[in-house]
Amino acid sequence: MSLFAGIDIGSLSTEAVIIDQQAAMVAAVILPTEAHSTKAAETALEAALEQAGARRPELARIVATGYGRVSVPFAHKAVTEITCHGAGAHHLFPGTGTVIDIGGQDSKVIRLGPGGKVVDFTMNDKCAAGTGRFLEVMAAKLGAGLDELGPLSRAARREVAISSVCTVFAESEVVSLVARNEPREDIIRGLHRAIVNRVWSMVRAVGVEGQVTMTGGVAKNSGVVELLEEKVGQPINVYREPQIVGALGAALLARDQARALG
Ligand SMILES: Nc1ncnc2c1ncn2[C@@H]1O[C@H](COP(=O)(O)OP(=O)(O)OP(=O)(O)O)[C@@H](O)[C@H]1O
Ligand SMILES: [Mg+2]
Repeated sequence: MSLFAGIDIGSLSTEAVIIDQQAAMVAAVILPTEAHSTKAAETALEAALEQAGARRPELARIVATGYGRVSVPFAHKAVTEITCHGAGAHHLFPGTGTVIDIGGQDSKVIRLGPGGKVVDFTMNDKCAAGTGRFLEVMAAKLGAGLDELGPLSRAARREVAISSVCTVFAESEVVSLVARNEPREDIIRGLHRAIVNRVWSMVRAVGVEGQVTMTGGVAKNSGVVELLEEKVGQPINVYREPQIVGALGAALLARDQARALG
């Protein structure tokens, strides 16, 4: 049996997905990237092989993506995250016209045309504001776990306006808000609003057409998803494990490439 693997080495997390010839997912793992991209890719792939009960020679082709994609010596090809998140989102939600991927280090908005082909995209990788990193910094300051941000934000009674766009200044703003005894829920909702405003200007630049699908770790934050849905004016598709969508896309491309090569 031939299997195909996709590995996404992100700034924070590394994912490995293995699919079979029918594109059914036989393994999916998420691990922290830590300090070494090559090691993270190797460990994630080994864990995925174990989950699938498969051996390395059964992998007909491996595609790497993510910022660490050039550090995967055993991959047959490296493909950009734009293409992979597009392919993964199209496979899971075929009606997707716009993909929003918010990861730890950058955020991207991708427009898909017929067949899931990328027709346009925009990206913010210059600054932590508008990325998951911004939320990590603020969650640490507020003593909240990442998985608590969504439920806390949704329990907010009010919303505190965060005026700084810069992560460093917003952090000191949060410190003063805490000192003024502003409820944590209200501050978190304000922080989510700040992210959503940033991402929304990217969405507008690329355009909304058809269904909107969100990928990447921040899609696990129901507070951000809810505020984005308000802006977009329609429900947003979120796969049950949004962090693996890029790796799934890479695995699907590995399968396509293997077929094209005969
Ligand atoms: N359980 C969770 N609940 C809410 N948010 C989460 C959760 N886990 C991760 N996140 C958010 O997801 C972000 C990381 O996303 P992801 O794993 O997609 O990043 P990455 O692919 O490593 O980074 P990049 O693509 O930017 O290189 C974190 O910064 C955090 O804000
Ligand atoms: Mg990523």
